[in-house]
Amino acid sequence: MGLQAIPWSLYKDDETRFWVHFGLVILGFLLSVITLIAQWAKPAPYGKHEGSEAGNWGPMIPQRLGHIFSDAIPGVLMFILRPYPSVNYAVQKWTSCTGDYIGRLLSKLDPRFICGIVIFVLGYVINRWADYKLRSLRRPKSEDGKVMTSLQTNIDGDSGYFIPRGGLYEVISCPNYFGELVEWLGWSLATWSLAGLVWALFGAATFLPRSWHNHNWYKRQFEDYPSQRKAFLPFIY
Ligand SMILES: NC(=O)c1ccc[n+]([C@@H]2O[C@H](COP(=O)([O-])OP(=O)(O)OC[C@H]3O[C@@H](n4cnc5c(N)ncnc54)[C@H](OP(=O)(O)O)[C@@H]3O)[C@@H](O)[C@H]2O)c1
Repeated sequence: MGLQAIPWSLYKDDETRFWVHFGLVILGFLLSVITLIAQWAKPAPYGKHEGSEAGNWGPMIPQRLGHIFSDAIPGVLMFILRPYPSVNYAVQKWTSCTGDYIGRLLSKLDPRFICGIVIFVLGYVINRWADYKLRSLRRPKSEDGKVMTSLQTNIDGDSGYFIPRGGLYEVISCPNYFGELVEWLGWSLATWSLAGLVWALFGAATFLPRSWHNHNWYKRQFEDYPSQRKAFLPFIY
């Protein structure tokens, strides 16, 4: 196997695999562009941006329900459409072509796979740490300044917003999104696939505009917000 991404060499003899792959990659790319434009124009109205001046995107539903819908729809759609042979066939082709390819990289312990997985794990650690820091902001602290768990305190804390500090928060406002994009870039390197790359682009289409909106929100909200902090990429953006 050369350095080509799928499906260039691996599926050149299988037209269905080739077009299923390409079709979904193109669709993913188009959705990324639409998402980027929509989210830059108006931040998605949850959390800090709920009820903002920019307005909502339509009727509001509870955030938890929204998340279930947004993440469950592909699975539910596949389930509903599974009696249609062409959909079933396309999905099987898609999963088998991606699975085959990753299996091949893995079986050879390809350096792209190893480096990609290391980057993925690094991004995952940053993402989890940054989310933990944010969620800890509302938890009460003990006298020595340590965050107490809800088991220790038996209360949930308040619902206000605070300036996050420490670690990557000293240089960027949204290390949680930064970490998640690092994860998906690692994944696209590990799988050396157009599908992986498009998934990373789709993530970036949310993380870049939302970081920018969050960063500006922090600056508007807190007069003492650290001026050297960037939105998403340390020292640059
Ligand atoms: N793959 C994707 O496409 C995708 C898209 C979006 C998010 N995500 C991931 O999902 C995770 C959460 O994302 P999110 O957009 O929900 O993050 P978020 O808006 O930053 O919120 C995370 C949690 O922290 C709280 N919080 C945020 N800023 C705070 C502050 N300054 N002070 C006190 N509490 C604060 C929020 O409370 P409130 O709810 O009250 O604001 C919420 O409970 C991240 O890891 C992100 O990478 C992935």
